Amino acid sequence: MLSVIYISVADPLIGEQDIAALLVQARRNNQRDALTGALIFNGHNFLQLLEGPADKVDACLAVIRGDPRHSGMVEIRRRAIDERAFAEWSMLYDPNFSGHDDNLSRLAASGRLDPQDALMMENFVALGRRRPQGAGVAD
Ligand SMILES: Cc1cc2nc3c(=O)[nH]c(=O)nc-3n(C[C@H](O)[C@H](O)[C@H](O)COP(=O)(O)O)c2cc1C
Repeated sequence: MLSVIYISVADPLIGEQDIAALLVQARRNNQRDALTGALIFNGHNFLQLLEGPADKVDACLAVIRGDPRHSGMVEIRRRAIDERAFAEWSMLYDPNFSGHDDNLSRLAASGRLDPQDALMMENFVALGRRRPQGAGVAD
């Protein structure tokens, strides 16, 4: 099996309702194609981990690449796997970052989430977090 993680730039007009609709589509197709994974939206970008049979993962990525709901897709990790990290989820998603943290921490603790994958996902979530007022670098 293959596991691929990519990041992309979300269409600026995309909202949680659009993502909910996207997930209905994605989960239906992924169940059919034995794909599992996780999607994170940090307010500007998507990070998605997609895993399953190599031919199905690549076919799905080709479709996703052409989707106008995002652009600039860049793969950040691609590797062969023996076991799925997200076997229970046709596409894990929680609009609430803390939900991701909980799930990711649980997965990482269970040893099923590869440590480098976990790190990339946690860092990505942290990137989207709003800085406290006044905590930015001065002009
Ligand atoms: C960020 C993002 C992630 C997506 N993830 C998936 C996915 O995991 N599986 C999938 O089938 N489609 C996914 N899609 C949707 C596909 O691009 C495409 O719209 C969909 O597969 C078409 O489904 P249909 O042929 O049933 O209409 C995603 C789209 C975006 C923008």
